[in-house]
Amino acid sequence: MNAAPSEAATSAPADPAASAARVVVLAGGLSHERDVSLRSGRRVAEALRGAGIEVTVHDVDADLIPALTQTRPDLVWPLLHGATGEDGSVRDVLELLRVPYLGTDPRASRLAWSKPVAKTVVTRAGLATPEFVTLPQSLFRELGAGRVLDAIVDRLGLPLVVKPSRGGSALGVTLVGTAAELARSMVDAFSYGDTALVERAVAGREVAVSVVEDRGGPRALPAVEIVTEGPYDYDARYNPGRTEYFAPARLDAREQAAVAAMAVTAHQALGLRHLSRTDLIVDDDGVPHFLEVNVAPGMTETSLFPQAAAAAGHDLGSLYRDLVDRALADATATR
Ligand SMILES: Nc1ncnc2c1ncn2[C@@H]1O[C@H](COP(=O)(O)OP(=O)(O)O)[C@@H](O)[C@H]1O
Ligand SMILES: [Mg+2]
Repeated sequence: MNAAPSEAATSAPADPAASAARVVVLAGGLSHERDVSLRSGRRVAEALRGAGIEVTVHDVDADLIPALTQTRPDLVWPLLHGATGEDGSVRDVLELLRVPYLGTDPRASRLAWSKPVAKTVVTRAGLATPEFVTLPQSLFRELGAGRVLDAIVDRLGLPLVVKPSRGGSALGVTLVGTAAELARSMVDAFSYGDTALVERAVAGREVAVSVVEDRGGPRALPAVEIVTEGPYDYDARYNPGRTEYFAPARLDAREQAAVAAMAVTAHQALGLRHLSRTDLIVDDDGVPHFLEVNVAPGMTETSLFPQAAAAAGHDLGSLYRDLVDRALADATATR
C-alpha cells in the first residue's frame, strides 16, 4: 500500500467574490477504489482553486486528525469512494472532531452504502427496483450452495446480476446468463465482502442521474446515458474510449421526468445531503428501475457527475463553489 504523501500545495483566491473558505479535500483511503478517489480529489481541488477557493488535498492516514485539529479548515469535502469513505465511518470521525463537511451524514451514508438496505428504503418510497435476495457467505455454505442457487434461479429466473452487497466501481459484479455461471459469480462477489446481492437483470438503457442541493432543495441534473460494448466494469469506467456517454441521455420528455423524479425521491427517502448520484436502468417500456445510489460519486475526468454538470451548462468550478457555500451555510445553521 502506498501511503501517498498528502498534498500541501494551496493556492491564493483568484476571484475576490468567491468564498474565502479553506477547504480540505479528502482523497485516497484504503479501499479498492483508492486510485479513483485520488483522481476525483485532484479534479475537484483543481476546479475549486479555479473558483478562488483555498484547497488542500489530504489522504486518510495517521496525519489526518492532527492536521484537521491544528488547521481547523472551514469545510472538509470527503471524496473517498468505497468502504470507510462511503459507509459513513470517516464522516463519523469528522463529526467527532466537529469539523464541518460537505455531503451526507454518517447515518444516511450507511443506508445508501448497503445496496439491499437502500433498495428497501426506496421501495417504501414507491420506487421500482429489481427483485433481489441478499445472501451472507456463511448461510450459503450452511444450507448448501447448490440448493440455494437452484432456489434463486427458480424464484428470480435468468438473467441475474450478482454483486457485493456493498461496494463500487462494479468490482465483483457479474451478469449471469445461465445457472451454471451462478456459483462462480457468487465466489467473485464474496471476494469483495461477506454478503452478496443477487437481483434480476434489467434490459434497457443504463443512465445515471446526479442530484445537487446547491441553492434550493434537491434538483436532478440531466441524466447521462452509458453505452458499453461489454459490461460497464472498472476498465470501461476509467479507461477513456471503451464507453460512449450521452449527456443528456437519449430519453423522451416523459422518461427524463421519470428518471429525475426517481433520483430526487431516492435522495430524499434516504436522507442524503448536498449531492448524490443514482444509477438506474430504463426498460423498454420507459420505466426506470433503481439500482443503487452513491453518496460520493466519482469526479474523475471520465465520471458521470461532471458530465451531468456540463450538460446542465454549469461551469464545474462555480457548481462546486456553490455546493461549498451551501455546506458552509448548513454547518453554520446547525452549529
Ligand atoms: N439489475 C441489473 N440489471 C442490469 N445491469 C445491472 C444490474 N445491476 C447492476 N448492473 C450493471 O452493473 C453495474 C454496476 O452495478 P451497480 O449496482 O451500479 O454497482 P456499483 O456500486 O459497483 O456501481 C451497473 O452500472 C450496470 O451496468
Ligand atoms: Mg453504480
